[in-house]
Amino acid sequence: MDITAVDRGANVLVTGGAGYIGAVVVGLLLQDGYRVRVLDNLSCGGNALLTYFQNPHFELAYGDIRNRKDLRSALENVDAVIHLAAVVGDPACRKYPELAVAVNKQGSEELCRAAVEKQVRRFVFASTCSNYGKMPDPDGYVDETSPLNPVSLYAELKVGFENYLLGLGLDDFCPTCLRFATAYGLSPRPRFDLTVNEFTRDLLLNRPLEIYGEQFWRPYCHTGDLARACIMVLKAPRPAVAYQAFNVGDNAENYRKRDLVELILERLPNRRENVTYVHRDEDPRDYRVNFDKISEVLGFSVSRTVADGIAEIIFAIGSGLIRNPDDEYFINR
Ligand SMILES: NC(=O)c1ccc[n+]([C@@H]2O[C@H](COP(=O)([O-])OP(=O)(O)OC[C@H]3O[C@@H](n4cnc5c(N)ncnc54)[C@H](O)[C@@H]3O)[C@@H](O)[C@H]2O)c1
Repeated sequence: MDITAVDRGANVLVTGGAGYIGAVVVGLLLQDGYRVRVLDNLSCGGNALLTYFQNPHFELAYGDIRNRKDLRSALENVDAVIHLAAVVGDPACRKYPELAVAVNKQGSEELCRAAVEKQVRRFVFASTCSNYGKMPDPDGYVDETSPLNPVSLYAELKVGFENYLLGLGLDDFCPTCLRFATAYGLSPRPRFDLTVNEFTRDLLLNRPLEIYGEQFWRPYCHTGDLARACIMVLKAPRPAVAYQAFNVGDNAENYRKRDLVELILERLPNRRENVTYVHRDEDPRDYRVNFDKISEVLGFSVSRTVADGIAEIIFAIGSGLIRNPDDEYFINR
């Protein structure tokens, strides 16, 4: 049984490396001395990767996780896989359900089988805290032992692949599921269809903002911290992470939508009248998440908070670093 961690100098395949979180993972891996290959079909374009072409330790394997040939060549000499490629989010999976099943279930399983065949040592899967659906106790927290209650095709497929991976039981394979909190903040491919970034953009640009279900809870985490968690799993001793699921985020970073709005208004106080709340008594997703496990087992803590992310987005748009945040490149449809 291989108990060695995958550390600097190792070859890491990042699927979905051209995406919002993936492009940050690639940057941190390169910075840390890893050799990185990205497998991506560039469905959102590839601008996020342009800067990495100068680095001799970076390689793009343009291809699709549904294509066996692409998988085999992308997995050549790979020590670890960080699997982020997916049809991402409830709206995209609702709109393209067949594609979502083909990529998020069949493609992911095919990738995993090919990785086992090629004796890849570590496999990190980007799952989601939305697997929890609605927390049973409205005053409590859910943790990794809580029942999963997916309420969308997106989450159903995430839970399905988690079960597949964690049920493999192969001694010489080391899969880990990371249940990411909702991401915010900058990246080489920022997304403005996610709550913190979207609300901040809209209020900064002086648009009206309608908030539905302002009282429901969700956890949030900066792209850079999510990316760091992936790398911490590669470096951790095998017994700590093999066949484990970890929530990725911070107990103090659970917010209701109205809390997010208040944080943005602290920065943009004259936008209060732009906000209207549309009350909803029911939301199938309402989860406040406990993150003790990743802190205790891996020593993970977040380096940034939602307030930092709001400041970052205000700066990026206000300074012209991002000229047109409405560009379709920034939105997952
Ligand atoms: N962003 C979040 O808030 C969040 C929260 C929880 C979990 N996650 C998970 O993290 C991962 C990354 O999310 P993101 O926000 O960076 O998404 P993203 O849409 O920005 O990136 C996804 C990347 O996957 C690529 N891709 C899609 N289908 C592919 C295929 N068939 N073959 C090869 N490449 C393909 C896309 O081209 C894109 O570059 C996803 O698995 C997502 O479900 C994200």
